[in-house]
Amino acid sequence: MWRWAIAALLVVSVLSVIVLLMRHRRHRRLTLSALATERSTKVAQFPVTISSVASRSEIATEFAREYIVRIDRFLSPECLRLLREEAESNVERMTPSFIPTHKKGRTLSYEMIHHYAPGCLSFYHSPQVQEWISQIVGLPVVPTPDGDQSSLSILCYREKGDHINWHYDHNFYRGRHFTVLLSLANETRAGGLSQSNLMRKRPSGEEEIFDTSANSLVVFEGARVLHRASPTAEGDLRIMLSMTYCADPRTNWLKEFARRIKDTAFYGIRALWD
Ligand SMILES: [Fe+2]
Repeated sequence: MWRWAIAALLVVSVLSVIVLLMRHRRHRRLTLSALATERSTKVAQFPVTISSVASRSEIATEFAREYIVRIDRFLSPECLRLLREEAESNVERMTPSFIPTHKKGRTLSYEMIHHYAPGCLSFYHSPQVQEWISQIVGLPVVPTPDGDQSSLSILCYREKGDHINWHYDHNFYRGRHFTVLLSLANETRAGGLSQSNLMRKRPSGEEEIFDTSANSLVVFEGARVLHRASPTAEGDLRIMLSMTYCADPRTNWLKEFARRIKDTAFYGIRALWD
């Protein structure tokens, strides 16, 4: 008798969890769909002004060889200032994360950016920016899905020891996947650049530093480029707008689950179901 009661209780519990998860997923789909609907109005209100006159064909040639390139003074000073002010005004809303030996810092998710950083949202969805990235990587790209909280995020390194250790940006999508970093701030209280560097390690073991002073744009194929951000020192501030674009954003449930596990490092355990 007791066995039957325990079995029935287990079945009811499992079914209840499944129903709750399905309801939560439906709620999330509706929330993300509403954000996407409102997005075009917000994007139209914040035009992006690109000031770089760099040769895109030369950069594309370098990208095809190296899988990573950087562009100096990408935005107009006014546009950069607006994005930086937005990012700094959101530091307290960012999710802190600490995974010993791997990562320490703060992150503002794509969903939070929809609510609190319309200029950053506009930059990511700007047709001009998308055209630049497509020309650099040599194929048409689009933003990665709305449900991916790392499609667009703001990364903030401002406490001593903030960093992310060597890693690849794994591709969870069908088409090639690219990471784009726009540096919004990179400084130390005493003046000059922070101690936190974007570094790349070649298969030979050789390490290379990429200048991420404010207003530089770095484009790379994270699944091919082993990279890290070295630790900040006391008084450093480094803020990056981090974006991902993809040639084909379709995925499957297994890759989606793997992506969610990866995102727990940035947004905590909720990334598994949110
Ligand atoms: Fe990365």
